[in-house]
Amino acid sequence: MDEYPIRIYGDPVLKKVSEPVPDIDEKVFNFSRDMAVTMRKARGIGLAAPQVGRNIRIVTIDLDALEIGSGVQVLINPVVKYVEGRSVMEEGCLSIPGLYWDVTRPSKVVVEALELLPDGKVREVEIEADELYARVILHEIDHLDGVLFVDRLPDSERRIAIARWKRSMRGERP
Ligand code: NI
Repeated sequence: MDEYPIRIYGDPVLKKVSEPVPDIDEKVFNFSRDMAVTMRKARGIGLAAPQVGRNIRIVTIDLDALEIGSGVQVLINPVVKYVEGRSVMEEGCLSIPGLYWDVTRPSKVVVEALELLPDGKVREVEIEADELYARVILHEIDHLDGVLFVDRLPDSERRIAIARWKRSMRGERP
């Protein structure tokens, strides 16, 4: 299994809209396993394929970290069918390391996707998620559309957040 370098804010791959996965073959299976390894090593609770340089619609979610299951969930071609409510929570992103900011999102989501199971089987799923699980799903699906969590902030706030992050990346005081 391989581990990928994680692409950082400013990399154009993070701003592109990703393509649906047409066939779930062995290559896709191996790639998703490598994404899971990369996510775990980086201690992320979610990861999207563009973050490792591929503009395809695959996300991984750490169910252990969310305390709602075990292992890593692999969702392919996820589509948001319904959202409800509003919640504000501090978010971070492996592609903007060290920046944490309050982000407003729906509190509940219904998503349809293909789930790629650890044994390689694929099943159609409809996932109803709330709280942190909903937030992670929405954050990762945003990545597939070239949207980062800072893009969800009001313009003035985003400018402050990015400026602060850039200073911290240069090793200056935030
Ligand atoms: Ni992210």
